Amino acid sequence: MSDRQTVPELMGENDVVDLLVRQHAMIRDLFDEVEESLTGSRRADAFERLVRMLAVHETAEEEVVHPYARLKIEDGDEVVDDRLAEEREVKQMLADLEKLGTDHPGFSGHLQMLRAAVLAHTRAEERYEFAQLRARTSVAERRAMAAGVKAAEALAPTHPHPGTESVVMNLLFGPSLAIVDRTRDVIRQAMRGQVG
Ligand SMILES: [Fe+2]
Ligand SMILES: [Fe+2]
Repeated sequence: MSDRQTVPELMGENDVVDLLVRQHAMIRDLFDEVEESLTGSRRADAFERLVRMLAVHETAEEEVVHPYARLKIEDGDEVVDDRLAEEREVKQMLADLEKLGTDHPGFSGHLQMLRAAVLAHTRAEERYEFAQLRARTSVAERRAMAAGVKAAEALAPTHPHPGTESVVMNLLFGPSLAIVDRTRDVIRQAMRGQVG
């Protein structure tokens, strides 16, 4: 499977909140899979899929969902800033864990800590951000955002880059300017296609 087709089974999800909540469930399942893997190579493979899933999921939220929520929900700035701080912490832990490697004796302990942080973060998103987003946006808006999330995920870096919680910051650390411009174009196009 190509890196660029991260979650093809979710391509049928048309509401952004449904899509992201399904991905949260998949992330939880991937943690189970890493923990339950008995051989080193299975564990490494499951962990690689977890890294990729988390990296593209958080990037898409940062590029498409949080900026919209900031404008639409009550206390948007406060709610989104708290989520971004959590995402930064999660990505730092993920990057550290990736460096440590699945064979390291400390891996399981660190994985547990990452899992607790990710679960707290996804719960906070669903409770404080997504519930309001669902209540304050139209079906067409959520459909457009779902298309934007899918486009963003298809183009997102597949490894964590802590500290790049905005597209502006991505210019400094991640992909080249041209790629970021292209990402924005694809996301805009996808979202326009859904609304127009
Ligand atoms: Fe997130
Ligand atoms: Fe999320």
